[in-house]
Amino acid sequence: MSDQLYRNRYGLDCDFRLETNDTLRRILSRRSHRRFTGEPVGEDLLRSLFAAAFSAPSKSDLQQVSVIRLTRREAIERIASRSRNVAWITGAPEFMVWCGDSRRIRRLAKWRGHPFANDHLDAFMNAAVDTGIAMQTFIVAAESAGLGCCPVSEIRDHVHHLARELALPDHVFPVAGLCVGWPASEGDVSMRLPQSVTVHENRYDDTNLLTEVAEYDRRREAARPTPPQAQRDVNRFGVTTDYGWSEHRTRQYARPMRTDFGAFVRRRKFDLS
Ligand SMILES: Cc1cc2nc3c(=O)[nH]c(=O)nc-3n(C[C@H](O)[C@H](O)[C@H](O)COP(=O)(O)O)c2cc1C
Repeated sequence: MSDQLYRNRYGLDCDFRLETNDTLRRILSRRSHRRFTGEPVGEDLLRSLFAAAFSAPSKSDLQQVSVIRLTRREAIERIASRSRNVAWITGAPEFMVWCGDSRRIRRLAKWRGHPFANDHLDAFMNAAVDTGIAMQTFIVAAESAGLGCCPVSEIRDHVHHLARELALPDHVFPVAGLCVGWPASEGDVSMRLPQSVTVHENRYDDTNLLTEVAEYDRRREAARPTPPQAQRDVNRFGVTTDYGWSEHRTRQYARPMRTDFGAFVRRRKFDLS
């Protein structure tokens, strides 16, 4: 049973004794959900999930995360309408935007009469990392209650509009939106790269990367083949029989995306030097 969880996640037989408990089983079989029943999440549950999310570790205990829960449907619709790919976010009973917040500590520095002497890339990075960790803590908590979630970074495609919609001040930036609701279907486990690629011992080593990824592509396609019509950007790259995760994702990144994000962050007064 637990070996099957491993096989579903990695497409490989498990070559060690997989330790399991409820939490591990739930994490191993987790998946993003993009379609939801209309049932509301419930205020107490939502507040409990925020309580869990903000229990996440935080760099130097600086607590540089803010989340903006959108309760006005018109605002969610305006955000969704900017991006064809994420129109589905309007179907989620809860939608929120997780933000890195370096403003709070800077205000407090002024209040306490101290210079803020760390205005460089690390300040941005720490807030971004803390936000990702808090959001994922929220997701794990939500999934433990049977909810489904999907992060949405595509809302950053129109980051200036998003920042205006959310009234984000300087030094606060959106990391990702998050849809939350009761899943409308079971969904599918998405296969991951093997540990031979992602877990390194003592030193970084990607000698066998291409062989490993070619095998991973084959495993993934065998489990869930990509139909030719689902191949990405065929006008530019054509249809290939050798399609898989690596082809899909490198086609995706062959097009520039969010090239204005650095400028947005700088305009929000981050010094990224
Ligand atoms: C930071 C972040 C941003 C994401 N943004 C989007 C998004 O904009 N649109 C989307 O459909 N999925 C988005 N996802 C979900 C990923 O596509 C999904 O996690 C990935 O395909 C693996 O699938 P799984 O979560 O079901 O394992 C995002 C995930 C993360 C962690």
